[in-house]
Amino acid sequence: MLIAFQSPLGSQVTIHLLYWYRCVYPMSDLLQLQTPCMRYVGSKRRLGRFFIRHIQRALEVYPNGKYIEPFVGGCNMITQVNHHTKIGYDANKYLIALLHEAKNNPDKLRQSTCISRKAYEYVKAHMDEFQAWYVGAMGFLPTYGCIWMGSYMNDKERGRFVKGINGLLKQNLADIHLINSDYRNIPIGKGNVIYCDPPYIIHNYYGIPFNHEEFYDWVRYASRDNIVFVSEYEMPDDFDCIWQMQIRPQINNNGRLRYEKLFIYRP
Ligand SMILES: C[S@@+](CC[C@H](N)C(=O)[O-])C[C@H]1O[C@@H](n2cnc3c(N)ncnc32)[C@H](O)[C@@H]1O
Repeated sequence: MLIAFQSPLGSQVTIHLLYWYRCVYPMSDLLQLQTPCMRYVGSKRRLGRFFIRHIQRALEVYPNGKYIEPFVGGCNMITQVNHHTKIGYDANKYLIALLHEAKNNPDKLRQSTCISRKAYEYVKAHMDEFQAWYVGAMGFLPTYGCIWMGSYMNDKERGRFVKGINGLLKQNLADIHLINSDYRNIPIGKGNVIYCDPPYIIHNYYGIPFNHEEFYDWVRYASRDNIVFVSEYEMPDDFDCIWQMQIRPQINNNGRLRYEKLFIYRP
């Protein structure tokens, strides 16, 4: 994608978006950030601050466009973005209901307490008997690593449930539109900035089958009229890595190091 701007001498300059990204960022240029903190598996809470400037610069290219996250998860990235229109989608309806509750009805959430392992197993097996936000809270907050309907944490660690609720309530969700949808059904439009944080190709903790080849095609298509970023470890060869950082993933990785990367599609 090419971007055009006015040079200091008044002429119109057109450069490739990738070149522009590679030129403009000293590390010291980090923005002042809020402290978003819903614990969430695959959260970009800590990493987001290192690459958010790419997103903010892209929003300068499309100042009237929307900022869209098709995989909003625990909102740990979208809350760090400064923009007038922010929309977060997620295919997990219980998660979106929980985020709505945190946004509109925080007192109700504050009053909820951790349930026993037996009660947790009951909620897990009978989700339709409960309100969606409640299933969301019980499906994420009392589990190891906040993995959706994962293993119930040790009874001694119940304090983490309260911490989870408090973290969720600390987030500023007021200016975010939260919508339950599969990414394939969202209106992409034109002139928007889209940040994708899909399930990693090597492990999917979200209980929703995910076809990565189909996702790559969707990104290629969406990139025709929008600026689209993807967080992943690896992407196909026609994607360019514009940022990377060595990390030690916390779950099931035996301490091995990986590179967390940010990609954009190179047509
Ligand atoms: C890596 S997490 C996002 C984490 C988020 N960026 C954060 O920092 O909190 C990926 C999310 O994608 C969602 N997801 C999985 N398949 C999806 C699909 N087909 N459409 C939309 N969302 C999906 C999962 O429910 C999960 O919340």
